[in-house]
Order: sequence, then C-alpha cells, then structure tokens
Amino acid sequence: MGRRLILDKSKKAMAKANELIPGGTNSGARASITRGMYEGFSVPMPAFMDRGEGSHLFDIDGNRYIDYIAGFGPAILGHSHPAVTRAVAAQLTRGSVYAANTETEIKLIEKLVKYIPSAEQVILANTGSEATTIALRLARAFTGKQKVLKFEGHYHGWHDWAMVGTAFSVLGTFAKGQGQKVFGSAGMAESTFDDVIVIPWNDPEALEKTIKREGDDIALCITEGYQSNWGVMPPEKGYLELMRKLTKQNEILFHIDEVITGFRLGLGGFQAHSGITPDISTFSKAMANGFPIAAVASSKDVMESVTTDQVYIAGTFNGNALSTTAALATVTELESYGSYKQIYNRGREVMKGIADALADNGIPGVVQGPGPMWSVYFTDLEKISKTREVYSIPQYPHIKRSAVFFDGLIRRGVLLSPARYGRMYISFAHTEEDVRLTVEAAQEALKEAKRIK
Ligand SMILES: Cc1ncc(COP(=O)(O)O)c(C=O)c1O
Repeated sequence: MGRRLILDKSKKAMAKANELIPGGTNSGARASITRGMYEGFSVPMPAFMDRGEGSHLFDIDGNRYIDYIAGFGPAILGHSHPAVTRAVAAQLTRGSVYAANTETEIKLIEKLVKYIPSAEQVILANTGSEATTIALRLARAFTGKQKVLKFEGHYHGWHDWAMVGTAFSVLGTFAKGQGQKVFGSAGMAESTFDDVIVIPWNDPEALEKTIKREGDDIALCITEGYQSNWGVMPPEKGYLELMRKLTKQNEILFHIDEVITGFRLGLGGFQAHSGITPDISTFSKAMANGFPIAAVASSKDVMESVTTDQVYIAGTFNGNALSTTAALATVTELESYGSYKQIYNRGREVMKGIADALADNGIPGVVQGPGPMWSVYFTDLEKISKTREVYSIPQYPHIKRSAVFFDGLIRRGVLLSPARYGRMYISFAHTEEDVRLTVEAAQEALKEAKRIK
C-alpha cells in the first residue's frame, strides 16, 4: 500500500480558495488538480504547493513528490534551477520593465533565430495564448483572408477562436457524435464560429477536402507537431508533410504551435526535430524554465506588416527584463548540455518501465510520446492518434483503472496530472534514482488498478 496522503493544510487552504476565487483556481487547466477529481472519480491531490527543487515538489502539508507535471511544461531544467535563479536575482536589483528595449532581448532573440529553422524575426509576448493571437493577426494581414483551420481537441489557448473545437467544458460531445465544431466554453462570441474550421487530426482525406473546398478563405492552418493536449499523440507518417504542401499550394500560412514542444524536444523545437518547417510558430512554456514569456517566430516577409506599422501588436510586459533574463539563462544552460539525449533516454526509461508494468499486470494500455513528454492511456487500442479515440475510452474498466493508477502513484510520491488530456514531462533534473522509484511505484499502483473489472 502507498502512504495515506495527509492533505489537511491543503484542504483548509482550498476551502478559502473556493470562497475567494471562482472555481477555486486562477487557471481552469488546474481544476482537476485543485478539485482532486479525474473524469468523475476522486483522486486526492495536493492543491497547494510550498516549493519546488529540481525534480521535486513539496506541498504545504510537507509531502514530497517526484514531479512529472513540471508546471504543465515549463520546468525543463528542474524547479528553481540555480543558473536561472542567479540571473533573475541579479536582474531584480536593476528593475524589470522600462518601456524600452534591453540588450538581453536581442541576445535572446539571436539565439532563437539561430536554433528555430523558421525564425528570421521574433516578437516576444508573455503567454502562449497571446502568441497564437498574434500569429492569427499576422496571418490575416499577410494573406488578406479571414478563416483559421484547426484540429479537433488541439488547444492553442483560452481565447474565443482557439476554443472552438477544444471541448474542455463539454466533455463527451465528440463521443456522443454531436460534431467536432463545439464551443469549448460558455461566453464565447457566436460570430467566432463562422471563422473557424475544425477537422479531425491525422486524417489526410479531411485535410485535402477542406483545403480544396475552403482554401481561398483560410489565412492560417494551426496544428501542434505532436498533439499534446488530450495526451501526447504523434503525427501519422507523411501527415504534416502533406499539411506543409497543401498550405503552401493554397497560400495559407502553416503554423506549428510549439508552446509545448518548443525547447522540450530540442533547442529548435519540433520543427528541427522533424525537419518540417512552418511559416510561423509559437513558443512559451519551457523557454524560460518557469517565467512568463512567449515568442512568435516567422519570416521577415510575414513580419513586414508589423515593420511597416500596418499591424499593431503591443504589451506592457512584452520582452520584460525578468522574463527575458530567465529565458536567456535557460537557453544558455540548455546549450551547455550539448544535447537533449539525457531527457530522451530517461523519459523513455520511465515509459518502458510503465509499459512493462502494464503488460506484467495484464492491463491493456499504451504509453506513447517522444521521451521528453509522454502519456499513459488505458485503452484496448494499439495506439491513440485522434482526440475522438480518447473520448471513446470506456469509463469501466479503463478510466477507473487510470484513476486508481494516478491515485496510487500520487500516494507513493509520484506526481502526475490526473487528466485524460494530461502529459508526463521529465526534466534535466530527474535522476536515475527518480526513474527507478517511479517505475517501482507504477508497478505497485498497477497491481491495485488490476483489481478493477
Ligand atoms: C499548444 C499550446 N498552445 C497554446 C497554449 C496556451 O498557452 P498559455 O496557457 O500560456 O496561454 C497552450 C497551453 O497549454 C498549449 O498547450
């Protein structure tokens, strides 16, 4: 048996949060964590953290966890990495926003242009949602067209157009066959619906048909390289190459949203990893190891409308000295490792350990992802490649088994996001010992999950 998790302080603080913050959290993406609920099953989780150090988080009740949530992706070097902390601490004594440029911005962008294949110029913002908003405005200005083509279940931020077809608050609508074009939230402008086309991912026929039919109206085609929301799903062979070709032929800007894959799969993100070069791409999470920053990268051609003042983009905190300092320190530290081998290998060791443990316990399931991030699906399918397949997973025994697995891991001090759309992230701070303890915990948790019929 894993330990009984004492979360008394967290529960008390959560009661206050529920009084003071609508829904008890400032980000809807954290709701399953703060509510301790997973797909209708209770999975008690620490809602309040005290600190993070390297590969570990410590909650306010004093429990310690090996952390695979990584703040939903940013902690690529591990929490409170000394090189980043030192650089930001030094900058703190010199101010943070000046309404003027800094040399740090230039040094940082020089590195982004060096590593990101599609980047000739870069605009800095603070969050992924801002970055994807900027990308669509640039695309509309550049192409003179209005519509955006996106993919079922892909998440690109919480703003109106990006939430069409994400279905976060309307769980089950795909499975119930109510169509792919659903509002992801109440309160969205209905007019947005007309501008957004949503089709299933990894479906070349749907892509070809849609671009043939509506290509003349589509400004931007936005996708992730690995679909990473609703779990990690690789692109089918040739699918993104086809997307590259069709968008080019139809004068549509091809956007790879690298908010998750950027600086996680390598310094050049998914595009360097795959050799598929988009027209525009967006970065955020792992770029500054926990500080708020985002980047939009593209060619000088596409950025021309900003250079000539036709497109207006602004932000009080864009390129601020603290975030750019953190990003520069993060990228410099990542450069010093010489390669990403360590997180690919260590991530794959955990993946293999969990996959073996599933097999040993006779539990059907798939562990998939490139290594620096992955997902565990409890399913009879051999692989998961579309959001619809995630929705089709039955509540019993599979979802219930995953709830027991997540719960068993958390009680054994291994923290992961208990969500069907969650991922596990590994950092450069995770050690061989962390891997061993995680696989051991997975073996034991799966013995408990096996009892669910
Ligand atoms: C692929 C992708 N794009 C954009 C966003 C939005 O980023 P942010 O939460 O920083 O606004 C996210 C957030 O998870 C994401 O995963």
